[in-house]
Amino acid sequence: LQSVWLWIAAGYLLGSIPFGLLLTVAAGGGDIRKIGSGNIGTTNVLRTGRKGLAAATLILDAGKGAAAVLLARHFAPDTNMDVVAGIAAFIGHLYPVWLGFKGGKGVATMLGVALAVYWPAGLVFAVVWVAAMLITRYSSAGGMAAAVATPIPPLVQGNYSHAAMFFGMALFVLVKHADNIARLRAGTESKIGAKTDG
Ligand code: G3P
Repeated sequence: LQSVWLWIAAGYLLGSIPFGLLLTVAAGGGDIRKIGSGNIGTTNVLRTGRKGLAAATLILDAGKGAAAVLLARHFAPDTNMDVVAGIAAFIGHLYPVWLGFKGGKGVATMLGVALAVYWPAGLVFAVVWVAAMLITRYSSAGGMAAAVATPIPPLVQGNYSHAAMFFGMALFVLVKHADNIARLRAGTESKIGAKTDG
């Protein structure tokens, strides 16, 4: 089970499951893509007012990233397949074939991958995320700050391939937040707790 293509496919398939969309549809909440920012992630599920669904979206979107890494580590130990599967899951979340390649922004999935690849990176992600969200009250700003901070622990550790991986993921997170960045600059980004998008 050491084929790189196997882990790219398995990671991508896991990552491409749009939990936020599936959960809101299953709960009778309609198509999350027509609500708020139109994103399929936790923050937008929260805008429906359903906190339990938002929490489940966060856990499942992070969980699929972590699961991809841990499955590869279990079935292909002592290889780099865990990193391959984690990156593939992240890309699957961002660009799911099922939704015409229009997926999420990668914050929760990056957290799950980081926790499973190198837990101190996941810890830094989580701490920066919560702190930046509490300070700014913007979910997007919190997610972006967390993503950018995540390469620091592997850098300190001297694991440059892990640092490069998280740096690359952070770039994708920033690119996916282009609309949020524009709204933040214009002062129209919605704060946490607001039910409709600014
Ligand atoms: O994780 C996505 C979050 O950072 C922003 O979500 O819905 O406000 O664009 P949203």
